[in-house]
Amino acid sequence: MTQSKRVAIITGASRGLGEVIARVLAGRGYGLVLGARNPGPLQDVADSIGRETRVTPVAGDITDASVRARLVGAARDLGGLDLLVNNASELGDIGPLTEFEVTRFGRLFPVNTGAPLALIQLAVPLLAERHGLIVNITSDAARGAYPGWGPYGATKAALELLTRTLAAELRERRVSAVIVDPGDMRTRMHQQAFPGEDISDRPLPEVTAPFWNWLFDQPGADITGERFEAQSEDVRWLHQV
Ligand SMILES: NC(=O)c1ccc[n+]([C@@H]2O[C@H](COP(=O)([O-])OP(=O)(O)OC[C@H]3O[C@@H](n4cnc5c(N)ncnc54)[C@H](OP(=O)(O)O)[C@@H]3O)[C@@H](O)[C@H]2O)c1
Repeated sequence: MTQSKRVAIITGASRGLGEVIARVLAGRGYGLVLGARNPGPLQDVADSIGRETRVTPVAGDITDASVRARLVGAARDLGGLDLLVNNASELGDIGPLTEFEVTRFGRLFPVNTGAPLALIQLAVPLLAERHGLIVNITSDAARGAYPGWGPYGATKAALELLTRTLAAELRERRVSAVIVDPGDMRTRMHQQAFPGEDISDRPLPEVTAPFWNWLFDQPGADITGERFEAQSEDVRWLHQV
């Protein structure tokens, strides 16, 4: 099989937003390395997208160093790396900070902040070869100070700061890094955030597709260090399909 021209790694690609980003990129001809913990749903997505482009599924927890090594190794096998999307994330418990069991940070920060940084560290040599782009997925909870969402929001706020710092540090190597807040979407994580509530008024994650199509057309140097809100009615991507 011939090597794909451009290659992306997407974590958390077995459903929700990650799957949508994978489908957008497949439509743009990218070879894909897709990650998630549960192999069944991940394989289903890989099989479906695999009709369009070359796809390598890598099942395992993103906090596991060997899983991260397999993700980057799979990109190398596809020919290199142009794009890394750190999308996999966990919500943790929703509740007041005064009642938060602080040891649970020992799970949330490694998943939402540490693993993305560790994956970036592994991926930068490949990204630098192609002047690639890092996309770290954040949330309005990183800024909103929403009661009950403090621990999750703290991990995303830290991820935002790391992203802006990386953008500055990697500029000379012509690797770019941006933060994307996808906005509220009807996904499993969102339902977990509002247990028992009807979330049918929230849009499906496909609503972000115009933004992604715009973003992936931008020269990295023009956007590095920026924070985007994928559902904002911005003329730059309003009329993309
Ligand atoms: N939905 C919203 O309203 C909303 C709003 C703002 C920001 N976001 C952000 O958008 C991103 C995607 O969220 P989503 O709503 O699409 O969530 P989702 O539907 O629950 O999907 C999460 C994906 O991540 C994978 N995953 C979770 N924990 C993982 C781990 N430890 N290691 C590897 N893979 C893991 C899941 O697969 P497995 O379970 O098989 O591992 C799944 O593929 C997240 O970063 C989230 O914080 C979402």
